[in-house]
Amino acid sequence: MSISLFQIVQYVLVAVLLLYLLYYVYTLLFDKKYQPRAWKEALKNGRISNELTKAERKYPDKIRFFHFWFQVERLKRNKVEGAFAELGVYKGDSARILHLMDSSRDFHLFDTFEGFTEKDLESESGKAATYNRHNFADTSLETVKQRLNSPRFIFHPGHFPETAEEAENERFALVSMDADLYLPTKAGLELFYQRLSPGGVIIVHDYNPDWPGIVKAVDEFAETIPEPIVPLADLDNSVMIFKAKAV
Ligand SMILES: C[S@@+](CC[C@H](N)C(=O)[O-])C[C@H]1O[C@@H](n2cnc3c(N)ncnc32)[C@H](O)[C@@H]1O
Repeated sequence: MSISLFQIVQYVLVAVLLLYLLYYVYTLLFDKKYQPRAWKEALKNGRISNELTKAERKYPDKIRFFHFWFQVERLKRNKVEGAFAELGVYKGDSARILHLMDSSRDFHLFDTFEGFTEKDLESESGKAATYNRHNFADTSLETVKQRLNSPRFIFHPGHFPETAEEAENERFALVSMDADLYLPTKAGLELFYQRLSPGGVIIVHDYNPDWPGIVKAVDEFAETIPEPIVPLADLDNSVMIFKAKAV
């Protein structure tokens, strides 16, 4: 039986495709190359829950994930008191991960759970100027409540900063800010920094040229505080803002 050149090419193509598939499945299941040493050690010592292990495998931005984790671990180690909060929750992806990293803290969630408002969008430029009220509107308070069903979660549905007073007596150890727009980010930085525990951290997502509103809000706020702003190397360039420890 003779094999034609065409058949050989076909076999080679199928073999290459199979190899690629195998490689893809292998990296999905076992690839550990983005895992920092401290995480591997914590895994080995059984300090990471199965749920968090699964979440890490699926999370697309490993560096963002590990920045969250390192901060949560530092807060535990340094016994920094306070709740967690997130401004800009959408379907609850990052809130869920932060809660898996430390489920012993109350966690305040601020979002309209209906997308952006016209009032906030009006003054935007960059990527946010292409947004309208339908972006991030495919969520709801009820679906997020079902997904984030621990009693530790405290929901503040509605327009921020008006909802901030619902948590006015709270102290925060970690605040994740991911609202995409200038006005809520500016208001959030001012409000959350005031209520941040010494040693606490605010992590703001999207500090990059696609989001001039975020850059403006962070830069303006940076002028008003003594601590430096720390830029991060995650995919969308977050920044961290710390409240200095009392000396
Ligand atoms: C990029 S999404 C948040 C993504 C989320 N952190 C995640 O893990 O998928 C931005 C969210 O900010 C919310 N948001 C923006 N401005 C707001 C405001 N002024 N008040 C309340 N929520 C706001 C939007 O409703 C939207 O759900």
